[in-house]
Order: sequence, then structure tokens, then C-alpha cells
Amino acid sequence: MDKFRITGGRALKGRVSISGAKNSALPCMAAAVLSAETVTLHNLPYVKDIITQRRLLEDLGATVLTPELRTHKITARHIELFEAPYELVRTMRASVLALGPLLARFGKAKVSLPGGCAIGTRPIDLHLKAFEKLGAEVRLESGNVIARAPKGGRLIGGEINFEKVTVTGTENLMMAASLARGITVLHNAACEPEISDLAELLNKMGARVRGAGTSRMEIEGVEALGSAEHTIIPDRIETGTFIAAAAITKGELEIKDCEPLHLAAVIDKFRDAGVVIQELNPSTLLVSSRSELSARDVRTEPYPQFPTDMQAQYMALMTQAEGLAVIEETVFENRFMHASELQRMGANISVDGHTAVVQGPTPLTGAPLIASDLRASASLVLAGLVASGETIIDRVYHIDRGYEKIEAKLRAVGADIERLRDSVTAPLAQSEQGTRSSEYNL
Ligand code: EPZ
Repeated sequence: MDKFRITGGRALKGRVSISGAKNSALPCMAAAVLSAETVTLHNLPYVKDIITQRRLLEDLGATVLTPELRTHKITARHIELFEAPYELVRTMRASVLALGPLLARFGKAKVSLPGGCAIGTRPIDLHLKAFEKLGAEVRLESGNVIARAPKGGRLIGGEINFEKVTVTGTENLMMAASLARGITVLHNAACEPEISDLAELLNKMGARVRGAGTSRMEIEGVEALGSAEHTIIPDRIETGTFIAAAAITKGELEIKDCEPLHLAAVIDKFRDAGVVIQELNPSTLLVSSRSELSARDVRTEPYPQFPTDMQAQYMALMTQAEGLAVIEETVFENRFMHASELQRMGANISVDGHTAVVQGPTPLTGAPLIASDLRASASLVLAGLVASGETIIDRVYHIDRGYEKIEAKLRAVGADIERLRDSVTAPLAQSEQGTRSSEYNL
């Protein structure tokens, strides 16, 4: 398995470009299954999850052309398979986004139940209950979800009230409802920017989605959807991660091709902690932190509040801030795995259930670390950038899922970081990962 070797202590300085949002690209790629026409997506991030999603679409029978690295032209005219198998779903739970489109367009879908993952059990019960509200018959069979539209083969619009805000649950139902007969109303819908980006694509394809970005969405089903061309929004979590990188190394970064409006809560919190963030233009931030950072509490919540996907990165930063920071994780039940790794570097963090308390500033020293999930990996990279000495991070395939060439982007602004490709275990890693990261040339 690939590793990162980081020698800390360098202030980052320079310009970094933000890639497209993984968590918008994944549902938008799935949306192509709703149509027999070609859906062209631009600004896709070159990350492992996108490659996995492409494999899923091709396994279903869609054709995917890649005229350039970050553009996919997806044509799902001849779908022959109506299922997402376990070996794919277990490597990427976002494969469950195939459920809504397959059920809506073909009246049937079989998707392996995604197991839990490092950050929590992450059930999809709310997706399934909502499909039943649209008339689907849903049953579980040997670890698979088997879903069928009512006789006649078409879902029927209805009222859905999500007991919890669920991002992919909202996305699955937006796609299912877009071809249902009649009107569907989603209450307590997720409001993330990725939801609005999917709605924009669906409406370009001929859907009638209203209210995206608010907690009440109305979708009027249509007979069929057509072709569309769409550019994926910038990745707000990658943007937040690079803001944290500039701050934790006391450097200065110009972060371009981003969308500051999509991470207002993150920018507010970082400014409150003493990070200097200027908007040079609507898609460029200039970030620096000359003075001492001050500890500030944070509580993760659904959008537009502080995102759970920035919690681990924020914790790394708070190890360098003056005072006590209380971090509450309200979205996932087990998203503090990075804390124990940060402690091994010298951080003073105590975890009690959904709350972690960080006492700073503490000097960090480099250490051998193991990444546990995508955002925890980013947190360990940030800590390695500020730690004295050498940090080796193992299992960086986690970070390759959601960050495009992060070590190249960091090296380009002065970080001493390199990827150690472990050719010895790569065949094993390949079986575990599905494909070696070296094959992605990441
Ligand atoms: C999406 O996951 C993101 N992934 C996650 O990003 C992100 O952390 C999460 O939303 C929250 O913002 C993608 O968009 C591909 P949820 P999702 O359904 O949709 C519970 C990353 O780092 N729940 O909003 O799976 C669930 O257990 C990833 O890029 C149910 O109980 O998250 C969790 O506690 C990590 N039943 C909460 O709701 C359900 O049916 C929010 O989950 C669905 C969810």
C-alpha cells in the first residue's frame, strides 16, 4: 500500500487550484442512468471514487467516453444489468446512488447493502423507506436490496419526510422522483451545494426539480429525460483542507477555482480562530495566519453549518491554537479516529463520545501513522506538515478516494511530501482496493 513521507516545518506559499467536487460528481454520474441520451460532465476530479463510479456505470452497460481527463461523456442507452454488486459497493458506498436511477427508469434495481465503514454504520434505511413511499416494493435478500416499481413499472409521486437529513438519501430520491408519475415533495431534504448541483443537472436533462438547496423540494415527474452538459462545482472540502494547510503551516496560499459561498461556515470559523482569509475575486481566496491561532469550539451539522467532512482537518488545526477547543461531532457516530493518531504525535486531545476537547498549542513530532478514512487522512497530512521531523502515513489509498494528487499540489507550494509506492504489497493492495493507486497515476 502506498504511503506518504512528510518532513514538517515548512510554511506553504504559492497558488493551488481546487478540483471538482467528488460528492457532486458521484450523484451526477449516477443521474446519467436516468437517460438514454448522452450526459457530458466537466471538471470531474481525478480521484479513485470517480474511477470506481465509472466502472460501475460500464458494468451496468453504459458507455463512458473520456475526451479529456476530467470530462466524461456517459451514454446509458443500453443498460443490461440492473444491479450494483457487493465488491463494488463495499469499496464505495456511493454506489447506492445507482438505486434511484435504475428503479426510476427500469422499474427494478438490486444493490448490495453497503456495510458500515470506519466512521459509522451508515445505514440506508431512510433511502429505502422513501422509495416505498413512491410505491416501490423493497426487500432485503442475502445482503442485497431488491427494489421493484409498482406494476406498470413506474414509481408514483408522493410525500416524503426524512427523519434525518441524508445527503445521498435526498439525491437518490431526487433522481427516483424525476421520472415518477406525478409530484413528489421531499421534506427535511439535505441542502448541501452538491444537492443543488445535481438538481441543476437534472433540470438540464428535462427534469422539474424545484426548491433544491432548501429543506423542502418539489419534483414533478416527467416521461423521459434527455441529454445535458454540465460542469461540476468546486470541491468545498478540498478548499477547506487547503485553508487549514495554509493556516497550520503559517504560510500564505492563493486558493483558486473555488466557490467561497459553499463554505461560509468554515471560513467564518477559521477567521474567528485568527486565520486571515481574503476573497481576491469570486473564485479565489488568499489565506494566511500571521498571529497566534485562538481555540474555538465547533459543532458539526448539516449544511449550511460547519460540515462533518471538515471536522478532522479542524481538529488538526486546533492542536496549534491557544486554549481549549471543544469539537462536537453530531453527524456520524465514530468520526474521531484521527484523534488517537494525532495524540501519538503529541497532541493533547481527550475524546468522550461525540465530543473531543483539544488543548493547544502543543508541538507535534513526526511519527508513523495509519490513515483510517478519507478525511482523517487529510487531518494526518496537515499534522505532518507542521510536525518536527518525519511523518510516514500508511494506507493513503483512503486519501486518494477524494483528493486529486494532493501530494503534488502540496509539493508545488513548498511542502516536503512524497508518495512511497509500495510495489511489494501492491498486488494485495490491488485486491483490497480494486485497483492499485499507481494504476491511476495519481
Ligand atoms: C454524504 O454521505 C457524503 N458522501 C459524506 O462525505 C458526508 O460526510 C455525509 O454526506 C454528510 O455530509 C457523499 O456525498 C458521497 P448521510 P451520506 O446520509 O449521504 C444517517 C466524504 O468524506 N443515515 O447524509 O452517506 C447516517 O448514518 C464522505 O466525502 C441513516 O441513519 O451521509 C449519518 O449518521 C464521508 N439512515 C447521517 O444520517 C440513512 O438511510 C448522515 O448521513 C441515511 C443516513
